[in-house]
Amino acid sequence: MRLAPDGSSYLTSSSRQAETSSKSLFSLDSYHVSEELGFILPDPLEKLPLYYQPWMDIALRVPELVHSQELRTLINKMPLLSSQFLQKHKELRLAHLALSTMAMGYVWQGGESDTIEILPKSLAVPFWEVSQRLGLPPILTHADAALANWKKKDPEGPFDMENLELLLSLPGGDSVQGFFLVTMLVELAAVPALRNIPVVISGVRCADSEAVARALETISQSLQDMTDTLKLMHDYKPFLKCVLIFIHAHMNRWKDNPSMPKGLVYEGVNTEPMEYSGGSAAQSSLLHCFDELLGIKHEEKSGAFLTRMRNYMPPAHKQLIQDISLQPSLKSFVQQQDNEPLNQAFQHCVAKLLALRNYHINVVSRFITVPAARARQLRDKNQTSEGEMISRAPTALEERGTGGSGIMIFLKTVRDHTRDAFLPDTSKEKEHNS
Ligand code: HEM
Repeated sequence: MRLAPDGSSYLTSSSRQAETSSKSLFSLDSYHVSEELGFILPDPLEKLPLYYQPWMDIALRVPELVHSQELRTLINKMPLLSSQFLQKHKELRLAHLALSTMAMGYVWQGGESDTIEILPKSLAVPFWEVSQRLGLPPILTHADAALANWKKKDPEGPFDMENLELLLSLPGGDSVQGFFLVTMLVELAAVPALRNIPVVISGVRCADSEAVARALETISQSLQDMTDTLKLMHDYKPFLKCVLIFIHAHMNRWKDNPSMPKGLVYEGVNTEPMEYSGGSAAQSSLLHCFDELLGIKHEEKSGAFLTRMRNYMPPAHKQLIQDISLQPSLKSFVQQQDNEPLNQAFQHCVAKLLALRNYHINVVSRFITVPAARARQLRDKNQTSEGEMISRAPTALEERGTGGSGIMIFLKTVRDHTRDAFLPDTSKEKEHNS
């Protein structure tokens, strides 16, 4: 039996919990992860049972109703429906998407100057109940907007931007469509990597260096494909339109939100305001899985934010991340084997994850930091020519959700801690080779 550097054995595992969960780990299916689509919900429903038509009638028209300022009035008049006729997982997911889209629009309609403190009962009560049943928070999450919000125009056609559309949209036109669909395609590009996580884990358990090295190379390729897919984001006009998305995204959170300092009361659910962070791909389970697999340890503050984001994921996906974290250390295994192809495969994987995070920083700078600086300039000059909205947003854009440390500092800290995962002595060389 091989011993890990910490003295524990790979075969029997240093952790009993890992042993217990290892069986299920080999079946992604038991974590609601699809072999073909990963964390994406396969074939989401487009309709709810007829009883829920009052929800869908409004949810399908949120962009236009926000624009005409009618959304709040219509939601205030909506009947209070019971959630008990929603039975299947996919019905609950569509209901959550519809209710969260309406909630976002309800808050959003008045902009930053006319925010609300109470979400009306007819929306708040079913939203709360559906969220409880799914184990998701009552707010629009990545699991709603990017994972359960798609359909193919031609069911036999490919998964690409031309053949995909959103089920429910938000104000922002093509940019919103592009933003959520590209994010979904990044999730899709990660599927080969996801499929190989159990292969790595079982390879480590059986001390099969070759199998581990092969699986790590597939994961590296998949990480490269994710970066390449992220590049599609640049097809969607980064400037004004996307700034609008993020102003609006700012309206989709009632935590650390200066416009809603107390949070939001869910009428009929509780009398105290509740605080929830808004949707972000930080809630995607992908990078959490890769971080746990590669043994990447985040700095305290950014790590706490990322850990909190796990509460915004479907519970089965969160469980997968936890179970990966309980497995014997891949990095220790690689170090102990001291096998050149395995070392290289591991380094390659870390380098590709690092490159993905670097590229993401580049995207964020183009979509947020630069437009935010421009908005600040306009505000300082008292100009509103590029639209009233952008001049109102900069602080929100800069501080969004990351515990007040600033988006760039947060993302760079996360990136730098990824670099720490390299095997000793070769980090510069490997990063250069990525
Ligand atoms: C225009 C496109 C995008 C912008 C502007 C953007 C913006 C941001 C921002 C501001 C954060 C900081 C956390 C927060 O505020 O919630 C963040 C985090 C994150 N984003 Fe994005 N994002 C974009 C696209 C994507 C895509 C397509 C993915 C891939 C699925 C992604 C994955 C992540 C991850 C994993 C984090 C957490 C930090 C990390 O683990 O490195 N982002 N993003």
